Amino acid sequence: MSAIPAPSRSEPSLRDRLRADTQAAHEALDASFADMFADASGAQYRRFIAMNLQAHQAIEPVLSQSPLGRLGADGDHADRLEAARRDAEVLGIEPRAAAPFSLPRPDIFEAFGIAYVLEGSRLGAKYMSRAIKRDERLSGARWPTHYLEASSDARPFTWLLDRMAAEPAGEADMRRAVAAADATFRYFRMLCGDDDKRTTRA
Ligand code: HEM
Repeated sequence: MSAIPAPSRSEPSLRDRLRADTQAAHEALDASFADMFADASGAQYRRFIAMNLQAHQAIEPVLSQSPLGRLGADGDHADRLEAARRDAEVLGIEPRAAAPFSLPRPDIFEAFGIAYVLEGSRLGAKYMSRAIKRDERLSGARWPTHYLEASSDARPFTWLLDRMAAEPAGEADMRRAVAAADATFRYFRMLCGDDDKRTTRA
């Protein structure tokens, strides 16, 4: 008689944990841009581009010096920081230095959590860029979409998931990754709020 295989109860992956445990943080950030496409004046879109520009300025150097390094540094994907700078220039956003990021020397699991947020934001970008192009009020108002287009390439997010899957993670590691991802979402929210008191001119 053949043995009946035990039902497989696969443990949640690090990505599963990150997605579930930061869902509320993601929704809070989305909610603060809920009126973006209805606001043809572009004020909300400028706030969105300014937030992303400052976040990439502050976080990219932290990640590239972390044990994770630059994701797919040799790849042919577009430079998101440079793309955000181009949009900011078109939109008349003055250059600012962002407040320092709170995790300047992340270990590998913290780096996974930070990169999950930064690279995961690519997943909504294609949808947003299409929404602008479809809407004549917005495309007619010449909302520049360099940042959203550069972000629509999901490969670096896939590379990140591959790196995560290759690193065995215990419960404490997962908690550090989730805490770092939470801190990263909080950082984005701080940047998109009334950040005048927290940033200095470059
Ligand atoms: C403000 C407008 C935003 C919208 C409308 C939006 C929308 C979306 C959508 C539709 C997805 C799922 C895509 C899919 O499953 O194929 C997604 C995923 C994701 N977004 Fe956003 N997003 C926004 C902003 C952001 C920002 C600014 C960040 C980071 C700071 C972010 C982080 C993430 C992450 C980490 C995921 C991946 C979740 C997973 O593990 O599947 N999003 N977003």
